[in-house]
Amino acid sequence: MAVLITGIGELTTNDPERGRLTDAALVLDGSRVAWAGPASSAPAADERVDVEGRAVLPGWVDSHTHLVFAGDRTAEFEARMAGKPYTAGGIAITVGATREASDAQLAANLRRHVDEAARQGTTCLETKTGYGLTVADEARSARIAGEVADEVTFLGAHLVPPGADAESYVDLVCGEMLDAVAGSVRWADVFCETGAFDEAQSARVLKAAAERGLGLRVHGNQLGEGPGVRLAVELGAASVDHCTYLSDADVEALAASDTVATLLPACDLSTRQPLAPARRLLDAGATVALASNANPGSSYTTSMAFCVATAVLQMRMTIEEAVWSATAGGAKALRRTDVGVLRPGARADVHVLDAPSVTHLAYRPGVPLTKMVWRNGDRVR
Ligand code: NIG
Repeated sequence: MAVLITGIGELTTNDPERGRLTDAALVLDGSRVAWAGPASSAPAADERVDVEGRAVLPGWVDSHTHLVFAGDRTAEFEARMAGKPYTAGGIAITVGATREASDAQLAANLRRHVDEAARQGTTCLETKTGYGLTVADEARSARIAGEVADEVTFLGAHLVPPGADAESYVDLVCGEMLDAVAGSVRWADVFCETGAFDEAQSARVLKAAAERGLGLRVHGNQLGEGPGVRLAVELGAASVDHCTYLSDADVEALAASDTVATLLPACDLSTRQPLAPARRLLDAGATVALASNANPGSSYTTSMAFCVATAVLQMRMTIEEAVWSATAGGAKALRRTDVGVLRPGARADVHVLDAPSVTHLAYRPGVPLTKMVWRNGDRVR
């Protein structure tokens, strides 16, 4: 069944051949985009939806979330707002609650957040394990994530579980744990940071994952400068995420690599860190993605629109850069060419704003502007 979306006031395609069009139309055929171009030459379709001059863009690609979890960390957030610094130690609280939860509770919580994101225009979402930290708990997190999310990342190396010996835990992650999850995940990640995993431990985890054919991602440079970015680039990771504290050498290494710098502005705000240096990265030529980092500790939001508005208002990204980074940039961070773009053959992931242009995402911050959403060809809003 083909759907013609017409009356598009502004169409952001992210397709270099088409660019941004005014007075445009799109045709969706099942789960794919069949056509994109000027409304005057649109082909006929079975159904017609007139969006009456609104802006249309690809659905958000949220390439960094941690949504397989149970429990609540409101008290930690309140303490942080009262001046207590974020140290990532609260991860252990979520680990305890996650281990206690049933499979059905974890799946329902994940589904609830993915649906919440979809209602706000997120049509492709990555999520991670990392709140289990035993072989059985990581394996079930990976299985549950795979039933709901588009992309799943193994993050057994999120934190050394309280009471465990770090080197023995890394042995477990690199051996039995990776074996247990490798069939259910596409990616592996490590939290390379003081207080989590050091450079040597991080490299061991990433190399063991690469040997099993998994793609690599890194949590790096979140709480201070460190080896995360360098390691990610050296090992050819698809993305290094956070990048809040970067040396000039980190920026240069990213600019000269295929590793995407994924910035998480909602997390920087919620943890009272400086905002990541988007302008430095972009001006140096690095590829930047924006993601929500939705998780119960450091960034409890699924709103990509909030991230885009923050990137424009406070990180000096242009609206075009921010929208690209939250769509095509996320796709690059996941090494996908079928999402974050509206061209024939791409996934039918479409976001209609209740506004005439994407500029309104920053011009009207905090206003819920999502009017309609198609995900994989299905109308979800
Ligand atoms: O990306 N940095 C490590 N992991 C998460 C935090 C998770 C948590 O605090 O529960 C992050 O911010």
